[in-house]
Amino acid sequence: MLQFFMKGGTPLKGEVTIGGAKNAALGILAAAIMTDEPVLLENLPDVSDINVMLRAISDIGAKVERLDRHTVRITGSSIQTQKVLFDYVRNIRASYYLIGALLGKYKTAEVALPGGCAIGARPIDQHLKGFRALGATTTITDEGALHAEAPALVGRHIFMDVVSVGATINVMLAAVLAEGRTVIESAAKEPHVVDVANLLNRMGARIKGAGTDVIRIHGVEKLHGTYYPIVPDQIEAGTFMMAAAATNGDVLIRNVIPKHLDVISAKLLEMGCTVENYDDSVRVCGNPNKNYTNVKTSPYPGFPTDMQPQIATVLALANGTSMITEGIFEKRFAYVEELNHMGADITVCEKGDVATINGVKGFHGAAVSAPDLRAGAALVIAGLCAEGYTSVSDIKYVLRGYEDFDVKMRGLGAQIVTVSDEKEAEEFILSTGGDCDDLRELQAI
Ligand code: EPZ
Repeated sequence: MLQFFMKGGTPLKGEVTIGGAKNAALGILAAAIMTDEPVLLENLPDVSDINVMLRAISDIGAKVERLDRHTVRITGSSIQTQKVLFDYVRNIRASYYLIGALLGKYKTAEVALPGGCAIGARPIDQHLKGFRALGATTTITDEGALHAEAPALVGRHIFMDVVSVGATINVMLAAVLAEGRTVIESAAKEPHVVDVANLLNRMGARIKGAGTDVIRIHGVEKLHGTYYPIVPDQIEAGTFMMAAAATNGDVLIRNVIPKHLDVISAKLLEMGCTVENYDDSVRVCGNPNKNYTNVKTSPYPGFPTDMQPQIATVLALANGTSMITEGIFEKRFAYVEELNHMGADITVCEKGDVATINGVKGFHGAAVSAPDLRAGAALVIAGLCAEGYTSVSDIKYVLRGYEDFDVKMRGLGAQIVTVSDEKEAEEFILSTGGDCDDLRELQAI
């Protein structure tokens, strides 16, 4: 079982380069199979969610050529089936984008219902509402797959009842090849929605308004091949910003779109950290005397729910009491118990949507486990601040969305490795000035 193993206490310093946005790339991979011509994608992150999606589109017959670690050419002309029923696709959330893509292109799709991080109920009613509005019938099969089909898709005016990234992208995918005009109201405005729309437009779609809450789509008959570099990952960038702040470091984060990070920067400034924006990079310097602040997660341009555990870790080390209100998912405080295990003082209200964080002077190392992707990243940040050694298990979640997380942290001076057994952990402890008592202590916690 792989674990991150680290010795805390080193302020992060130096430069780190951010990869392509996982959540944009997932929609983009689905979009790429909607033409029979090749689509060349650059800046694709090498993370497990993306690799599952690549496997799924390859297994239904699309040609997937990995030209290098971050470049892939996809050709959808050889697709043989619109049924994506492989068990492994249930492990990722974004497999549902294959419904929109296949339904749009072939007017029929059947996809095993999605899983993803256990952060709440995560219904897909708005996706279904959109597909039905375009003329599709949708049913859940006995095998637990969603089947959608339509004699023809016809553009409609669709009001989303909740702002949903997934439903906005999914309906957009289906609507680009529908007849006539589709209007999506209350659309999500996240950078990944815009990125998928930009790719589709490069493929010949006619989408206007992505990035606002009204998206207008004129259906076209077919899409064509293109080349497209995926946008930098807002959340990976934000995670390194929080890591710099938490460890009182000084980090230049390269290959970012500073505008996408505005709300994250604003919170760091409120805490008394320094943030400098450049054209495509951002520099964050921590402040050992951080101020408390309050955070409420909401759809873009609000504070991202995907940054909530990471900022909680920083606030747990700030002076005073901060409050975090989770406005998107109902189970996104699963990491609190683990963080408290490391010395944080956080309580979550009975309803589960508000955390009260009393700042503490520091964390101590502990053996903790990642309950989900972003929470796992937050626990690593905590471990890098803690006194002594920390192990973070269940890192399969972290690997879903962060490429080379430990390598990038090491590049900033962090003492962190991935270990697969006790012997490797022991070697790391000995190489970093600790002794076997440190390992025994950690196991005893
Ligand atoms: C996307 O999930 C991201 N995943 C999530 O990132 C992210 O946390 C989330 O958007 C919010 O930004 C991917 O892009 C693959 P939503 P998604 O539909 O699309 C409710 C990460 O860590 N809702 O925007 O599933 C829903 O329950 C992951 O990278 C409905 O009620 O999120 C939630 O409360 C975790 N009905 C809210 O809307 C629906 O049909 C927003 O969800 C759809 C959603």
